Amino acid sequence: MKLFIDSGNLDEIRSLVPLGIIDGVTTNPSLLAKESGDPRKRLKEICDLVKGPVSAEVVATDVDGMLKEGRELAKIDDHIVVKVPFGKAGVQACGTLAREGIRVNVTLCFSPTQALLAAKVGATYISPFVGRLDDIATSGMGLVEEIVQIYDNYEFGTEVLVASVRHPLHVVEAARLGADVCTCPTKVIDTLFNHPLTGIGLEKFLADWKKSQSR
Ligand code: E4P
Repeated sequence: MKLFIDSGNLDEIRSLVPLGIIDGVTTNPSLLAKESGDPRKRLKEICDLVKGPVSAEVVATDVDGMLKEGRELAKIDDHIVVKVPFGKAGVQACGTLAREGIRVNVTLCFSPTQALLAAKVGATYISPFVGRLDDIATSGMGLVEEIVQIYDNYEFGTEVLVASVRHPLHVVEAARLGADVCTCPTKVIDTLFNHPLTGIGLEKFLADWKKSQSR
């Protein structure tokens, strides 16, 4: 399973990339709005750092606007994946951009029918938002399971990109279900490293080694 960072923050991305575990980045207008400076320049810097798919979202809500913005975003760098919100306009724009060879991530997916429609128009990624579904007492991972099954049934090439991840169990479940990608905030990626027995074990190894050296 590929691991993406869900962030527009260069320092966060810079701190994780050298570990060799990061395959790409997702951004959204809310994440980029938290950062200062020109968002397009930032997206270019993120692409240069990650050298993998970087999702950049359109803010237009009509088809023509999405196409114009999507084509401009795609020119920033070859690693840019244009993100469009699910909806009739998003589906139509996705189909057109995909035919032009521009990769599209269809975002704000909350149902299996939405995922089916996005795949039919050639989305590269579908982004089910698991955390926001959990927030309204609906199983986010249940949706991922349904999408994975539907895509497998028809051999759609669209990759399931699990988004709105809140904790490490979302990552574990995404991997168990065979999701293609999981995009996580930095704080969730940090939790993937942790196990108390690893720390306790290392402490004991080092203490025993030190004792043997002073004999
Ligand atoms: C994904 O591409 C989105 O940027 C993101 O995962 C949204 O997550 P949130 O629900 O924590 O805002």
